[in-house]
Amino acid sequence: MAPISMRQLLDPAAGCAYGIPALNINNLEQIQAIMQAADETSSPVIMQGSAGARKYAGEGFLRHMVLAAAEQSPHIPVAIHQDHGGSPAVCQKSIRSGFTSVMMEGSLKEDMKRPAPYDYNIAVTRKVVELAHAVGVSVEGELGVLGSLETGIAGKEDGSGAEGKLPHDELLTDPEQAADFVKCTSVDAPAIAIGTSHGAYKFSRKPTGDILAIGRIKAIHERIPNTHLVMHGSPSVPQAWLEVIREFGGKMKETCGVPVEEIREGIRHGVRKVNIDTDIRLAMTGAMRRCLAQHPDDFDPRKPLKEAMLAAKAIGQQRFEQFGCAGQAGKIAPIALDTMAERYVRGELDPVVH
Ligand code: 13P
Repeated sequence: MAPISMRQLLDPAAGCAYGIPALNINNLEQIQAIMQAADETSSPVIMQGSAGARKYAGEGFLRHMVLAAAEQSPHIPVAIHQDHGGSPAVCQKSIRSGFTSVMMEGSLKEDMKRPAPYDYNIAVTRKVVELAHAVGVSVEGELGVLGSLETGIAGKEDGSGAEGKLPHDELLTDPEQAADFVKCTSVDAPAIAIGTSHGAYKFSRKPTGDILAIGRIKAIHERIPNTHLVMHGSPSVPQAWLEVIREFGGKMKETCGVPVEEIREGIRHGVRKVNIDTDIRLAMTGAMRRCLAQHPDDFDPRKPLKEAMLAAKAIGQQRFEQFGCAGQAGKIAPIALDTMAERYVRGELDPVVH
């Protein structure tokens, strides 16, 4: 089916209390792998293009490849989401090139390096909501800066991330401010800061509540129970793939990701979109390194790429199953973006915040 708005995926996810992995895409192999994983587990899927992906492949290519994948699996509901937009202009460009959902990262200034004042965040997010909802496209905002509670460092990764060391309170979303943010902007889903950051190096040890604030998710969900929450930086960093990368010449330091059980706890408390990029990158790199090392006389790049695809697909399948998303695709009836736009105008999709 044609890509639909992300809001159409998040509402049923809230109704049935499951989460949807939002998997980052950069190339044909990732898009095919993710779509096949969604198809084989009958899952709705969010494919998202980061600033780095849009620079690497171009928005048009990403969109056309997602359309081709969607044609192959017409019964799978898919949203194509622009990850981390630094300004309303960037979001507008993505909407124009056919993304059905956009993220306005207003917690950082337009350079995507320095934290922005709250009023700025409200103003730019509100602006994106106005232009996106007018054409039925959904909007993710961000409140609080993503970064490590262990080090205070955001960790720049794939085109976004604050620079320098940040104070603790900037790295945790405040529940009362989250309510105000949703009320003032009418955003469909805010991303919240709970101590996760992008990339493979998030936690130096298995995270406990002091460095991965799942309790903060609960507090935000209690304050805004009708709002879909988004968790960024949520790969689990499979140790087995780190081992494969090391075995075949890669240099990965000791590191820990977000345990699946913690993500599932988040899903029990309102998280509906779970952003994962690193797991697929690790699995693909491990699979390619192994394949190239085991077949040194082979020069056909399709072989390592095929192995990479299978590894990426397996990650996708696991996350669809683990987040309760598997088997849900058939329950989602697609709605055209124009109809979504009318619903926004009628106020039917307005946030319910008391
Ligand atoms: P990772 O890079 O940590 O997997 O996070 C992905 C993400 O949050 C994309 O916005």
